[in-house]
Amino acid sequence: MVSIRLAVDSDNSQLLNLEKMCPQGTNLVLSFDRSPDFFSRSRVYKDSRLYVAEEDRKIVGTVGATAKEFNISGEAVKAVYIYDLRVNPSCRGKGIGTRLVQHAMTEQNEADLAYGVIVNDNYPSVGLFRKLGFQGIRDFTLFNIPVFKRRDCATLNARPSISEDVPQIVDLLNSYYGNHDFFAKLTEDDFMERTGKLPGYGLVNLQVVEIEDKIEACAGLWDYSKIFSITAVHVSAKLALLRYLLKFINVFKNTMQLPSVGKPFRILYIRDLAFGKPEIATELIKHCLCLAYSYNCNFLTFALDPAESIIPAVSKHNPIRTLYRIYTKSLNDKILHNPRITYIDPMDL
Ligand SMILES: CC(C)(COP(=O)(O)OP(=O)(O)OC[C@H]1O[C@@H](n2cnc3c(N)ncnc32)[C@H](O)[C@@H]1OP(=O)(O)O)[C@@H](O)C(=O)NCCC(=O)NCCS
Repeated sequence: MVSIRLAVDSDNSQLLNLEKMCPQGTNLVLSFDRSPDFFSRSRVYKDSRLYVAEEDRKIVGTVGATAKEFNISGEAVKAVYIYDLRVNPSCRGKGIGTRLVQHAMTEQNEADLAYGVIVNDNYPSVGLFRKLGFQGIRDFTLFNIPVFKRRDCATLNARPSISEDVPQIVDLLNSYYGNHDFFAKLTEDDFMERTGKLPGYGLVNLQVVEIEDKIEACAGLWDYSKIFSITAVHVSAKLALLRYLLKFINVFKNTMQLPSVGKPFRILYIRDLAFGKPEIATELIKHCLCLAYSYNCNFLTFALDPAESIIPAVSKHNPIRTLYRIYTKSLNDKILHNPRITYIDPMDL
């Protein structure tokens, strides 16, 4: 008999083990490990709950849910974001994943909308959400730029941000993302709380370009490895072949490498990217790539809606693309219009 309850601190080691048993993906199967603290991701959210499914006092599944408020097509929406869904492989196909998601939705009874973000080749998860009535409403792409060589540094003067910059940064973010769905206008306090709470991030990681006392652009480099260690546990035959080919080329010429099976790799996510003039943003990307090289990471990753104007500039650096989709389900009679350009928070991935 499976029962569902809120997770407590003493579930930590069982949850860490469960996560190790639940790699995700098909062409590139990735294993995530957030030792020593499974709750580290949930702690970043303001209002989150983690549930566990238990059978004979053993944890066989988990799911997280956090309440969010943002705008869709100019209308304020209360949402519940579903994340960290995992079911022990030996207990799959028995409806436990479905029950966990249903439970997470009903506990947030004031929400207009539930949503999840799923990588396109995670067929079991896509199947589960679709069966529950979720619909894919917007695609977006991770642009993973391989960081394998020192690049020419940008010509502009970018520097780490300091607390005096915060009012201008918040204005810039609000004006840049004001027309984006899934974005809530930030106050300075929200921004400082979010920036301070995120492991591997802080004002010092947020680069700003200041011209004549005005902040014209900003981009933060968030070290994802401070929450998750990621390891490829399987690659498709096509990817494996490409990896050998690149290894061979690398003997003659310094070139990109694909993740090796069994070896953790490190991602830096770009977050809080905002700018007025695209040419400044293009230079800021180059600056971030220079920094990423010195941080010794494997990929600098941008999560971008297809309508983002920065995509051509990012694409020039030969990124490897990973496709994602946002799935939503309306929880009341509120009519939700199809989203327009969408704000993607790398924290939700
Ligand atoms: C995704 C996952 C949570 C599903 O858990 P589960 O308990 O097996 O799911 P359920 O038994 O409730 O299945 C519900 C529906 O999902 C779909 N589904 C589940 N497993 C599937 C599979 N292997 N292939 C295709 N569809 C699948 C089916 O539509 C299924 O309905 P059906 O049994 O009537 O065909 C589980 O596979 C898992 O932990 N995967 C690894 C972690 C992960 O990918 N998490 C999601 C991150 S977004």
